[in-house]
Amino acid sequence: MNDADPPHQATHAFAVERVEKPLSDDDLASLCEAADAAIIDGGGFGWVQPPGRQALERYFKGVLLVPERELYVARLDGIIVGSAQLVRPPRNNEAQAFAAHLMHSFVAPYARHFGLARMLTLRVEEGARALGYHVLNLDVRESQTAAIALYERLGYIRWGVQPLYARVAGKTIRGFHYHKVLQPNGRITEGP
Ligand SMILES: CC(C)(COP(=O)(O)OP(=O)(O)OC[C@H]1O[C@@H](n2cnc3c(N)ncnc32)[C@H](O)[C@@H]1OP(=O)(O)O)[C@@H](O)C(=O)NCCC(=O)NCCS
Repeated sequence: MNDADPPHQATHAFAVERVEKPLSDDDLASLCEAADAAIIDGGGFGWVQPPGRQALERYFKGVLLVPERELYVARLDGIIVGSAQLVRPPRNNEAQAFAAHLMHSFVAPYARHFGLARMLTLRVEEGARALGYHVLNLDVRESQTAAIALYERLGYIRWGVQPLYARVAGKTIRGFHYHKVLQPNGRITEGP
């Protein structure tokens, strides 16, 4: 914390971490609450309507069982308020073994503008880098302007536009595809 930080930041504790064991009941409840609030606010990670608490609980428990997925969470004052997933390529995809995906990133509306999504994204990048990936890919609806600003500020390069990306409220909307080279020398080799 330094003199340039906004005053409200001094009163909160911020943390991001990878979830490596089953979530406690309290953590699962706050993660589902955060996801629910983000979906109601406009989603951005697949759901358009909240699927209900049981479905969300099953979903996040399931994520932790998928070998190719790593779940990262953001905490505000110890409470989970957002998450993101690092998705590794399947073993049969040798040709793209150097690239992983950042998916399903969100922060609950009540915890936004504290820098938590930025921290989450950088933590996922660190995880991917540590595993030996050279590239991180992600895609986002054109309507997710906060996410677009976040990723472009962090150096993600928009390489393509998918005109038929998602259907929301009866409208077809475009999606933007991004990538970022993770290794400092920019060289791409086969991957981990
Ligand atoms: C995108 C999202 C994760 C940002 O969460 P956040 O914790 O508020 O973001 P941060 O506080 O870390 O902001 C980091 C940067 O993102 C950008 N940003 C965040 N919110 C923004 C907004 N409303 N408008 C413009 N830029 C914004 C800024 O560049 C900001 O950097 P700055 O503070 O230096 O200006 C959040 O708005 C969200 O969950 N949106 C819905 C889901 C979604 O779009 N997910 C991503 C794609 S799947």
